[in-house]
Amino acid sequence: MFGRLLLLETVGVVVNEHNKLRINLKENSYDIIIEHGLLSNLGALISEKFGKPKIFIVTDNNISVHWLEQTIESFSAQGVSPKVLEVPVGESTKSFINLEKIIDQLLESKVDRNSLLIALGGGVIGDLTGFAGAVTLRGIKVIQVPTTLLSQVDSSVGGKTGINVRQGKNLVGSFYQPSLVAVDTQVLKTLPQRQLFAGYAEVVKYGLIKDCSFFEWLELNGKKVLEGDKLAQQFAIFTSCRIKAEIVEADEKEQNLRAILNFGHTFGHALEVEAGYDGNLLHGEAVSIGMVMAIELSKNLGHLSGQDAGRAIEYIRSIGLPTNINSIEGSTSWNPDGLIQHMQHDKKVSNGQLRFVLIKGIGEAYLTADVEKKQVYNVIEKSLSGDL
Ligand SMILES: NC(=O)c1ccc[n+]([C@@H]2O[C@H](COP(=O)([O-])OP(=O)(O)OC[C@H]3O[C@@H](n4cnc5c(N)ncnc54)[C@H](O)[C@@H]3O)[C@@H](O)[C@H]2O)c1
Ligand SMILES: [Zn+2]
Repeated sequence: MFGRLLLLETVGVVVNEHNKLRINLKENSYDIIIEHGLLSNLGALISEKFGKPKIFIVTDNNISVHWLEQTIESFSAQGVSPKVLEVPVGESTKSFINLEKIIDQLLESKVDRNSLLIALGGGVIGDLTGFAGAVTLRGIKVIQVPTTLLSQVDSSVGGKTGINVRQGKNLVGSFYQPSLVAVDTQVLKTLPQRQLFAGYAEVVKYGLIKDCSFFEWLELNGKKVLEGDKLAQQFAIFTSCRIKAEIVEADEKEQNLRAILNFGHTFGHALEVEAGYDGNLLHGEAVSIGMVMAIELSKNLGHLSGQDAGRAIEYIRSIGLPTNINSIEGSTSWNPDGLIQHMQHDKKVSNGQLRFVLIKGIGEAYLTADVEKKQVYNVIEKSLSGDL
């Protein structure tokens, strides 16, 4: 199947066949299904794959307004009535308190080892629900139904689940693979534009780290993805998931290769910490600026040609994503030393040694610890002054 898909991609054709992927992780393997309007068939799809167990849906209020009714109807049509657990909107929902509430309601409702827990929402719902599924009765099946572009191309695939604690984001959690990922591109219709663009930054990331022909395709078709073209969205999500899957399959628990998924994230996380997770700076926006910084650093170290660097940065700018730190509200008081300190406190830093994912060409990422602080400083300074 892959040979055929690759052929189609290289000629840049979008076809309706890009709707199913298998993630091969031995006994933890699962399918990703991508379809416009899939929610109306979710009940049938699940009955076909898993029979008719007890169903629990975790979602938030933004999503339930638009998409809960048709999800429930799809189960009613199968004679199944799911129990809905609603949690508040926002990053602070990924907490011990909400984890406990979910587990409490599951146990009160006599959840059993065959029950299915459905995460209907963005990355916040996906991470929290995934973790609840991982620990309730030592593990019940979780189905990810991601509703943001970011969660469709990133957080729903790969099995990282967790919550935030006082000491930092995502510090408590587990690797727990879902039993199915069901992506409905239709839900992107109600997603705020800013969230859509933030998710798109991660799509661009996949092209930059692993697939030059996908990057070329995005140069030609990215606008269609952002404007809501069904097939373009399906292809972009499919290809992003395929690239993430290839990386996760090779390195499920992030020993090494999986780290390249953090392209733009070492810088990006420092920006998020400085901005303070209050919605002023979205994760994807931080990643967009961070990728531009990583590209500049790759060029300055002599690993990436000026031509490729220019092409990549120009694309990020022209599609409408942020490229400089100075575009972030309140960043005038930030300085390079403060940001470097945040990088050194990142949980992915071992022995205080900064590691960067850089690129040596479009589609060719690599990991290195061999970067002088002065080089990092220079890139941050340039971004702070808006010159990238
Ligand atoms: N597990 C992983 O591998 C992984 C990877 C990346 C990010 N994450 C996590 O994902 C989270 C961010 O996820 P996100 O960007 O999806 O944000 P999110 O879950 O906060 O969703 C963004 C906003 O959009 C709303 N929303 C979601 N879908 C909607 C829809 N279809 N229509 C209208 N509104 C909708 C939500 O209510 C929320 O207000 C972070 O907590 C991050 O740590 C996890
Ligand atoms: Zn990310």
